[in-house]
Amino acid sequence: MAEKSSSVTEGIPKWQIAAAVGTPIVVGLAGYWYFRRRKARRPRQGSDKGSGADATPKEQEGWIAPGTPAVGPAQAAVTGDCNSGPLQAAQAAKAKGNKYFKGGKYDSAITCYTEAIALCPPANSAEIATFYQNRAAAYEQLKSYENVIEDCTKALELNSKYVKAMFRRAKACEVTGKLGLCLEDVTAVCILENFQNQHSVLVADRVLKELGKQRAQEAYKDRQPVAPSSQFIRTYFSAFANDPILENLKEKLAAVESAYKPAAPEPKEAEASQAEEEVKESGDDAGASSAEELDQEEQACTEKYLILLRSLAQENYTGVIEKCRAVIDAGSKCRYVPEALLLHATFLLLHGEGEKAATELTELLARTDLTPRIRSNALIKKGSLHMQNGLQAEALEEFAAAVKVDPKNSDIYHHRGQLHLLIDKVEAAVSDFEHSVSLRPEFAIAYVQKCYTEYRLAFTNRSPLQMQNALKSFEETIAKFPDCSEGYALYGQALNDQQMYEKANETFQKAISLEPDNGNIYVHKGLLQLQWKQDIEEAARLMNKALEVDRGCEFAYETLGTIEIQRGNIDTAISLFDQAIKLAKTQVEMAHLFSLKEAALTQNKVARRLGMAAPLGASMMG
Ligand SMILES: *[C@@H]1O[C@H](CO)[C@@H](O)[C@H](O)[C@H]1NC(C)=O
Ligand SMILES: *[C@@H]1O[C@H](CO)[C@@H](O)[C@H](O)[C@H]1NC(C)=O
Repeated sequence: MAEKSSSVTEGIPKWQIAAAVGTPIVVGLAGYWYFRRRKARRPRQGSDKGSGADATPKEQEGWIAPGTPAVGPAQAAVTGDCNSGPLQAAQAAKAKGNKYFKGGKYDSAITCYTEAIALCPPANSAEIATFYQNRAAAYEQLKSYENVIEDCTKALELNSKYVKAMFRRAKACEVTGKLGLCLEDVTAVCILENFQNQHSVLVADRVLKELGKQRAQEAYKDRQPVAPSSQFIRTYFSAFANDPILENLKEKLAAVESAYKPAAPEPKEAEASQAEEEVKESGDDAGASSAEELDQEEQACTEKYLILLRSLAQENYTGVIEKCRAVIDAGSKCRYVPEALLLHATFLLLHGEGEKAATELTELLARTDLTPRIRSNALIKKGSLHMQNGLQAEALEEFAAAVKVDPKNSDIYHHRGQLHLLIDKVEAAVSDFEHSVSLRPEFAIAYVQKCYTEYRLAFTNRSPLQMQNALKSFEETIAKFPDCSEGYALYGQALNDQQMYEKANETFQKAISLEPDNGNIYVHKGLLQLQWKQDIEEAARLMNKALEVDRGCEFAYETLGTIEIQRGNIDTAISLFDQAIKLAKTQVEMAHLFSLKEAALTQNKVARRLGMAAPLGASMMG
């Protein structure tokens, strides 16, 4: 959760936030089990002892690193006041097996364990489970994974909470691609070990990510594009100081309108015939008429362009894609076509149609009539799309090309800075943002991101002095740009990380007052309540508020989902993750959400398997 709140920024698309989350997913979702375990500790320990016979509870406490010999069972105390009998013979066979195992003679070890299993009285089920588990360990050394799975399954049938057998089966399932069962086992291990064991947590995380990726690959193909909210679009464009279309939009609109009006009278017949006469007088029929055609084409195109500009100026994004198309179709010679093509691709991107957008941008970049600004803007967007697909080198190439054609465009450095921040090249990010700011000192967004990156650098370097300076420079920036909500939102996240909760609360409040329809800020404020006061109710309230102001706030669905898991409302969580998945703009983002959903589904299954069914609480969504 803490990591989550230090996600990069509001000004960049959500995919970057999803990719920036570093905390293992299962740990983020573990809260409910902590709580449950605390409450249930006494009776559960009792029942463990009852069912687990002698060896297992002890084994569960000591951790055996993957791949190291299974010494646990060998050391386990032998039960009972035994004379010599079948159980003793079995134990002896096992002890021999353990010796072979330690000597690396796995085949011989397997023979001994098999003997132990055969000799052991069926009533000693815990011992038999141990023998199977040990044999599985030997099979594991021989990379005979199907046998590992089979023996672990037998061990688990005899002792359902046998953590070591569970984890061994999980590892074998991972190797053999049985990810569903692997996840179940490793989740059960995490729960039984109270999420305290690094190894099982890392396996769980790895498998969840892989499963999420697979599910997203499927789902992304059939996904319905979702129209982004105006707030989302506004935020996206606010990250471009030098947008070839939107920069100085009002002035541009006025200029095009005034240039267009005199030439725009409805083609009244009188005027038309007069024009024709004039043309005849000039005595150059053919040339003039084609010039006139060109002129008509230009006018039709200008008219469509005006429609587009007006709706952009009103921040009415309904039908913008169609309006771009109208300009493009108005004629190949129309001078507004490159802008319309760029905007068309941009809106596809905003609708989550990354692939189509990339194709269109490539086509656009093949044209020879682009201004450097349009070209560099298209290159930035192509670079960001590469980044969405995890192609860092390709992304950096696009940015390098952009620098070549338009070296003074601050947006290039600003966006490259975000990329660098995302791939943890924090120093490169700082220098990019510095360059961006030097080119465009009045552009608030780059400024606040520079602050945030300096803060991250101080955090990474664990330097109190740098931290002090970073927070100070946030203060100065906010004073310089008092109307920039992003500044407050990012400062709030930094303050939250620094556990300066009171101030973070005020700062988020200020951001909300500046931009009340930005759901993400409410979510961050909610995360603050969690971290500060462990106030899950207030956090949930704020996240629902986020959805009230922005139905398309994917971040709110996602965070609310993780909160519901922590409250044990797993079914509610799953439906929230489904909502978020519908809104996901990229495959990477979708994969992250599917991972969360898989984690929730598996926790439900595992709870049943372990006989500790999670309560299905009332829905938060009302
Ligand atoms: C926004 O544009 C759409 C499509 O052109 C139009 O139907 C709608 O009336 C506009 N909305 C407003 C509020 O102007
Ligand atoms: C956080 O700020 C809000 C005002 O925005 C205030 O009502 C609330 O009491 C503050 N929370 C705490 C825990 O101080």
